[in-house]
Amino acid sequence: MATFSLLPGSVALITLTNPPVNALSAAVRAGIVQAVQRSVEDPKVKSVVICGQNGRFCGGADIREFAGPMSGPPLVPLIHAIEALDKPVVAAIEGLALGGGLELALGCHYRIAHTTALLGLPEVTLGLLPAAGGTQRLPRLAGLPAALDLITTGRHISGTEALELGIVDQVTDGSALDIALEFAKSIVGRPLNTRRLSTLPCRCPTDIDNLLDRFMVQVRQRARGALAPVACVGALRAAATLPYAQGLRKERELMDTLFNSGQARALQYAFFSQRVVGKWTLPSGARWDNTTSRTISTAAVIGLGTMGRGIAVALALAGMSVVAVETQEKQLSEARQMVPAMLQREAGRRGLDTAPGVISFCSSLQDVSEVELVIEAVFEDMALKLQLFRQLSAVCKPDTLLCSNTSGLDIDQLAAATQRPGLVVGMHFFAPAHIMKLLEVVCGTRSSPETVATVMQLGKRMGKVSVAVGNCPGFVGNRMLKPYTEQANFLLEEGAMPEQVDKVLEEFGFPMGVFRMSDLSGLDVGWRIRKAAGLTGPGVEPTRTRQGRRYSPLPDQMCEAGRLGQKTGRGWYQYDGPGGRVARSDPWVQTFLDAYRARHNLAARVIAAEEILERCLYSLINEGFKILQDGMAAGPEDIDAIYVFGYGWPRHRGGPMFHAGQVGLARVLEKLEHYQQLHPDVAPMKPSMLLRRLVAAGSPPIQKWRELIHRERVHS
Ligand code: NAI
Repeated sequence: MATFSLLPGSVALITLTNPPVNALSAAVRAGIVQAVQRSVEDPKVKSVVICGQNGRFCGGADIREFAGPMSGPPLVPLIHAIEALDKPVVAAIEGLALGGGLELALGCHYRIAHTTALLGLPEVTLGLLPAAGGTQRLPRLAGLPAALDLITTGRHISGTEALELGIVDQVTDGSALDIALEFAKSIVGRPLNTRRLSTLPCRCPTDIDNLLDRFMVQVRQRARGALAPVACVGALRAAATLPYAQGLRKERELMDTLFNSGQARALQYAFFSQRVVGKWTLPSGARWDNTTSRTISTAAVIGLGTMGRGIAVALALAGMSVVAVETQEKQLSEARQMVPAMLQREAGRRGLDTAPGVISFCSSLQDVSEVELVIEAVFEDMALKLQLFRQLSAVCKPDTLLCSNTSGLDIDQLAAATQRPGLVVGMHFFAPAHIMKLLEVVCGTRSSPETVATVMQLGKRMGKVSVAVGNCPGFVGNRMLKPYTEQANFLLEEGAMPEQVDKVLEEFGFPMGVFRMSDLSGLDVGWRIRKAAGLTGPGVEPTRTRQGRRYSPLPDQMCEAGRLGQKTGRGWYQYDGPGGRVARSDPWVQTFLDAYRARHNLAARVIAAEEILERCLYSLINEGFKILQDGMAAGPEDIDAIYVFGYGWPRHRGGPMFHAGQVGLARVLEKLEHYQQLHPDVAPMKPSMLLRRLVAAGSPPIQKWRELIHRERVHS
């Protein structure tokens, strides 16, 4: 709701009251309508201040209300009523003014903000646009270029930046409310005509069309198929070229289209998934809300290669003192140079208000004896890791947590090498570890609930989206990636080219197709794993069936030819030289594939984009269902968060499991059956039991899957 009080000096104070962020629920909107009405009618009121309770102006719409039919007074006329008041209205912005909250403030005649308050119109990140006049008022106040930037990115700005952009009139390090109340008294009787944004012309540069066209090209490129940013530009074009009332109509029209699109649903689902995964549960019944966690302040990282360096920086950014251990002298001295610079750069980029923790470098494991948590990031070699865990178990304090950054090795085996299996857990970061948001927290059979809670909490402090997953080869993300990559290789055998497969996947919305990605990470990574698994290497027959399954030796042969990707300047594409970044088609690959197909009597055929997309995505999704069935992820939201935050799955498509629901589970099943019939030797195409059961249960909405999975487990 919103409360009204008349303060000395004839100032009416309207306080939005809806913890935690004073979201504009139906009750709050109704409260504001009443309070504005009282301000109009009460002759004792000479000016008005609007603020939020508990130092938070307003976090915007209450997105839980999006699901049902709209009730309560709408926001647009409410903001118009505020703007039309002939008594000055001042917004006192403390904490945050986001989305509808900022639109409300834009309807006020003046805005006073705390320097650190966060302002922004983040609707685009939920697949929407600011539809309470935000797209029309902001460019009239801050100018078209600034509005384009803020509305199409949804980025938050500080009170200080808002002052520079002219969005607020004044900032303070003290109480924005106190200043606003004083200011409101001082402006009684001042003319308000120039303060009503909807009546002002849009502040545009001379060459509007050119600016908008250029901007649209950039936005389309960045959006990778997302509709909302493009619609935002459309609404801003209307603001720049049409009178306010018509612009507002256009804003409404575009909003209706977005609101009813699957993308808005996907983005809202992704938003909620992020919260759902924080509320982890383990098969034992231990949960986020019945388990206490320890607060970690000292940590060690072992192995300062690609991952270890990033992890050390991420820990320090979260304020921890870090001991960084590396045995190779060259690697150690390189890390000594690079890591502090990485830390400084990232701390600067994030604008941290507290100093990051200190990182000390050493070459001996003895130096980690006093830390509370160790993260191992040495080579992906089980024997090496086992030896290290044995040493750590002997060197570290008995209650030190021992974590591994392995990409897929058995956490239980590592735990068994120690005297403290309950304190062993996987912390699977993604490269670059100080930037990528995802952390898979791999719970071994013996990992204690307190260990899991501590690491989940630590991940949160590091700004990660931490997802608790089970201990199986590849965990969740890499396990699903395997059949996806495998399909891509099969498609090459059957006639596709890497650029064709990549194009289809990039058009779907991935930042990079599977082959470009493989060139970036290095083809040797998977090669080493396959060699260790006995799938390739000297003495292994070069057949297309290995260990009883269809197998594509193509990537192995690329490695054998020295084509490891960007690092060697040659992979599925060619680059300007080793370390080159720009991928160009390579005729060598065409010749290589032709020769391969001829050797194996494979007739190349033209493969439609639809088949490429379906085979790659549905085999990945099918593995996701198997993971849910095996209990390796608690729910579809966990899988989707992993894919959105760690694997470049386009956010506006929600995640692989959400996408399956959008496509229709029955259709996914039918397609898997179809492709399995055509390729009976490809096991990952065999539809999972869970998918079959969900279809048999009438394809319930994704929010109901957990229930069904749980029921099945209880009965099985
Ligand atoms: P890397 O080869 O870049 O670095 C490994 C480092 O460990 C090297 O500097 C090596 O000298 C050092 N090392 C080896 N034995 C050591 C010991 N006993 N004590 C101290 N240092 C030792 O490897 P990278 O890529 O950083 O991978 C590390 C781990 O992270 C692996 O388990 C890998 O599977 C995993 N991982 C890798 C990802 C990636 O994208 N590279 C992503 C996620 C996990």
